[in-house]
Amino acid sequence: MSKMITVSENNVFSLTNSKFSYVFMASPEGVMQHIHYGGPLREPLKASVHHLRTQRETASTYQGGQYFSLSDTPQEYPSFGTSDYRFPALHGRNSDGNTVYSLEYFGYEIVKKKPRLKKMPTARGGKSETLIITLKDPLHKLTVELYYTIYEDYGVLVRAAKMKNEGDKELQLQHAFSSALDLPPQDYEIIHMHGTWSREFNVERIDVPKGRFVVDSARGTSSAAHNPFLALVQKGTTEDYGRVYATTLIYSGNFALSVEKGEFEDVRLLAGINPFNFHWRLKPGKTFCTPEALHVYADKGLRSMSHQWHDFVRDKISPKQFRHVPRPTYLNTWEAAYFDVDEDKVLHLADKAKDIGVDMLVLDDGWFEGRRDDTSSLGDWIADGARFPSGIPALAAKVKAKGLKFGIWFEPEMVNPKSQLFENHPDWILHVPGRKPSLGRNQLTLDLSRPEVIDYLFGQIDDILSCGDIDYVKWDMNRNMTEVGSAALPKNRQREVSHRYILGLYDLLRRLTAKYPTVLFENCASGGNRFDLGMLSYMAQGWTSDMCDPIGRLEIINGCSYLYPLDVTAAYIGPSPNHQNGRISSIETRFMAGVFCAARGVSLNESDIDTHKEELQSLMKFAKASAANMVGGRFDRLIKNKNEVCWQYTTRDERTVYLAYFHKLSAPNLPFRRARLCGLDQDRDYMLVEDGSYYGGDALMQSGMPLPYVSTGHVRESVRYMPKGDFSAYLFEFRRHEG
Ligand code: DGJ
Repeated sequence: MSKMITVSENNVFSLTNSKFSYVFMASPEGVMQHIHYGGPLREPLKASVHHLRTQRETASTYQGGQYFSLSDTPQEYPSFGTSDYRFPALHGRNSDGNTVYSLEYFGYEIVKKKPRLKKMPTARGGKSETLIITLKDPLHKLTVELYYTIYEDYGVLVRAAKMKNEGDKELQLQHAFSSALDLPPQDYEIIHMHGTWSREFNVERIDVPKGRFVVDSARGTSSAAHNPFLALVQKGTTEDYGRVYATTLIYSGNFALSVEKGEFEDVRLLAGINPFNFHWRLKPGKTFCTPEALHVYADKGLRSMSHQWHDFVRDKISPKQFRHVPRPTYLNTWEAAYFDVDEDKVLHLADKAKDIGVDMLVLDDGWFEGRRDDTSSLGDWIADGARFPSGIPALAAKVKAKGLKFGIWFEPEMVNPKSQLFENHPDWILHVPGRKPSLGRNQLTLDLSRPEVIDYLFGQIDDILSCGDIDYVKWDMNRNMTEVGSAALPKNRQREVSHRYILGLYDLLRRLTAKYPTVLFENCASGGNRFDLGMLSYMAQGWTSDMCDPIGRLEIINGCSYLYPLDVTAAYIGPSPNHQNGRISSIETRFMAGVFCAARGVSLNESDIDTHKEELQSLMKFAKASAANMVGGRFDRLIKNKNEVCWQYTTRDERTVYLAYFHKLSAPNLPFRRARLCGLDQDRDYMLVEDGSYYGGDALMQSGMPLPYVSTGHVRESVRYMPKGDFSAYLFEFRRHEG
């Protein structure tokens, strides 16, 4: 392995691979000064910094020196109060009661084995090197270690920080960001993803304003309101042009991604735990670890950014045992029957599932004691005796005897006031003294910062999984947190609860997935309310949204694909009219919106299945046959405008290329459109499976594939047509000619 980290005698540090260089130095004063992040440099240690020491009329100078102010110095881990007025990475009350921390360079270490962070999911190592920079505030005996991991084969830089109180007095942390990135002035735009229930992953693009722009969450989950993703892009960046700096976190709770354009136009990006409502007491001898922040630099637009994320998430974040493993097709009971499930109905649906050729029956909400609607029973994870008299293990065995896999739904983090668990342990919920807790979907949130709650939940879920017939678990979470307080923590630690909750959740997930490594876990939080790399470290796939109307889903998959490979996504054919927005669409278009998701299935009632049996059989046949293709491949967004979407998916072996084209609203007399494919072998031909015709790889990329015409009248033979009317979809499948 080549040496990716180099250090000069005068403390210039470089992390360089074939995709980027990241360079910084310890200034003579001991300030970690950022130098370069961008394309790989031939001689990174020679990157220039001289212009950063200039006298400014109004700037305060650091430690009273000359010409050196932190207010215009790009830094690696800035704090507040010593001449920098921007939002800091580190902030909090020190042992003297004021908030001035000042970190100085102390030393470094380079390690080959990527360190893991205590209690938190981290990206896996491999061909990587990690640079650990130690900084100290000698006055308050605070040590901060900055971690930088670079990989030989990936464009992702992983950062984290670890604080240690080495004094004998308590220190407090309010800002403990994972990373800070100070970029030089440039015309940047921000791309981020916002949304809400059933409308997740909307991509918004805005100019970087003067001042501060933040995407964050204070809801306890990373949330659908803002996915933990933010990219700074060169103005005018497109799918295949422009410099991109993109960031995410391996974290599932309250996060913040903050962009600040300072008085000198430089741009600071901070990534980490949301400082709002966060406060951590660091007792002498104790350490605090931030979650990992991931950074991608791409110089060829959003497509190359997404490819880098996809490869990394697949290889270094997702549970290893599911990497490149085809996912079973499934029938989920939710939109087929909602809470009206019982053993007979499930077994009937299992027969229907078998009939249409799906691989797995998933029993969603409604199976446990007293659960007839969403007003009761969360917390009591035993099968409802009246409706499931033989219990879940026996039901699972019966479903499996039909030649299907069996999956089940849990919402472990919640409790209804109407439940045995709440009666027994009213204190086990997040709450604050003297205030009536707010309800969300009639439920309360369990206090996962308490180890006894984690033990209880582990026991309940383990009881069911231990029968050995459960192949899949859908892990749901259907409310945001309120009255976030814990009866188990003292008054002065109440602002630690949100983070301790997430650590408890990770502990539970770690224990369960370690005991059941072959069970496929699907992450869900009312759809995409906690779709992040923290959860996806434990669960191989996620339910991106409850929006199963194909036109709504197109937006969701489009946004989701900026960061997440479709290997980690699931989609099913839901009912029409759609239950979320009432739209009527064909079975085929409903399937097609999720055609490139790794996990595909249906959630339809018996009568809908009967009505569309043949179509479903043929779609599920295709889904099953292509399941191995839909993991590990390359996804590309080719066209996205108000009325059209076109995606390309190239399989891992590059032999099969799919092109999915969606046309939303029909109109007469449309232009003939083409899609230019990408990443093909220009020297080979590709056969279009539907008619055996051949196209050159170069022609498909340069001149493009003529897209089907939405017919509104006369049909000409030389033209390929889409179904007439709204919401149509077309799938091309090409095979590379191997001769
Ligand atoms: C919300 C999920 O997103 C749905 O798919 C379904 O599982 C329901 N919860 C069940 O209550």
